[in-house]
Amino acid sequence: MDSILVRGGQRLTGRIPISGAKNACLALMPAALLTEEPLTLTNAPRLSDIRTMAQLLESLGCEVASLQAGRVLVMGAEGISNHVADYDIVRKMRASILVLGPMLARDGHAVVSLPGGCAIGARPVDLHLMGLERLGATLDLRDGYVHASAPNGLRGGLVEFPMVSVGATENLLMAATLAKGTTVLRNAAREPEIADLARCLRAMGAQIEGEGTETIEIEGVDRLHGATHPVVADRIELGTYMLAPALAGGEVEMVGGRRELVAAFADKLEAAGIEVEDTADGVKVSRQNGGIAAVDVETAPFPGFPTDLQAQMMALLTLADGVSRLEERIFENRFMHAPELIRMGAHIEVHGGVATVTGVERLRGAPVMATDLRASVSLILAGLAAEGETRVARVYHLDRGYERLEDKLSACGAQIERVSERAA
Ligand code: EPU
Repeated sequence: MDSILVRGGQRLTGRIPISGAKNACLALMPAALLTEEPLTLTNAPRLSDIRTMAQLLESLGCEVASLQAGRVLVMGAEGISNHVADYDIVRKMRASILVLGPMLARDGHAVVSLPGGCAIGARPVDLHLMGLERLGATLDLRDGYVHASAPNGLRGGLVEFPMVSVGATENLLMAATLAKGTTVLRNAAREPEIADLARCLRAMGAQIEGEGTETIEIEGVDRLHGATHPVVADRIELGTYMLAPALAGGEVEMVGGRRELVAAFADKLEAAGIEVEDTADGVKVSRQNGGIAAVDVETAPFPGFPTDLQAQMMALLTLADGVSRLEERIFENRFMHAPELIRMGAHIEVHGGVATVTGVERLRGAPVMATDLRASVSLILAGLAAEGETRVARVYHLDRGYERLEDKLSACGAQIERVSERAA
């Protein structure tokens, strides 16, 4: 197993290209199951989660071709030859549940393994299932699998989500495109990934209005056709790299990023004393000699502060002047990075969903590890600012969501490298 070795203390200068969004791509790929014509995604990120989704689609009989070294994905589901999404793939990646809506909408039946919990929380899929039932599906939970059927096809309906769910909104949005009649999704997620999916589905012939707002209306059509769609920029990768010069000092331009994708986060960065500037090509972040001010953060669905940037923001606030309060309101167990940051010298107290961070003058490098993607990258960010060496183990978490992380950071002057365990 590889680790990442960071030697802290280098100021960063340069440009970092922002890749296509993992979480948008993971929702766009299953849309290929809605049509017998090919769906082409450009600006796809090269990540292990994307390869896992490709494997899942292939297991269902969808052809997936990866062109231009993985930048372009062409998916063709002339027919779905297997309607069972197996536990062995679904357990690796929760986004696998997103094949349920499309398969059911196209062929009237699907069997998908229940994903189970994960490191950041229980993460049930009850909202996905409730929504599909509203569209007329019959569901049966047996042997760890959801057996879904709608022999006469899905029919449009009103789906009111009791809480905002990105995945459930995506599943229902896809399913409703081929349902008979009108579907209204209330309290829908407003994340940019939802808007991106709606744009792609529209290019495939779907009739959708209201994406990006709380109410999405979908008028079902008889069939969808192929399309070519560019994946939106990854707002979480953007926010993560915006924190690199904020922690290490220096000035870095995130090319292809846009402030509106991370507005709530960018506002907090500025409140912490970090300069954020729009440029012709993206967003530039700098911290010269100024300190970091303490700020309070509460995670919330978009347009609020993203839970997927909470760990990385905590890394910054460990070095702030004063006490910051971070409240995690989306996932119940998303502070696994706190004990590891404490090993690097941070002062953090966690009580339930609230972490209180008292800034310290410096962090010290240490061997650390984390059990999820965003927690892992927060330790890399902390390592950029720490004295000495930080070794982050379990790099496979990072490879799920950050493409060429060490190349992108070392191009800006960071001392960071991947080492194999044996050499380590
Ligand atoms: N929830 C339910 N029932 C459901 C669905 C969700 O109770 O049927 C709960 C979840 O347990 C959670 C909350 O609702 O407490 C929000 O979950 P949501 O469904 O919005 O999350 P998701 O679709 O499973 C996506 C991202 C996550 C990101 C969340 C929140 C993908 C593939 N994943 O997950 O990304 O944290 O939205 O923004 O899009 C990551 O990239 O590191 C990551 C975890």
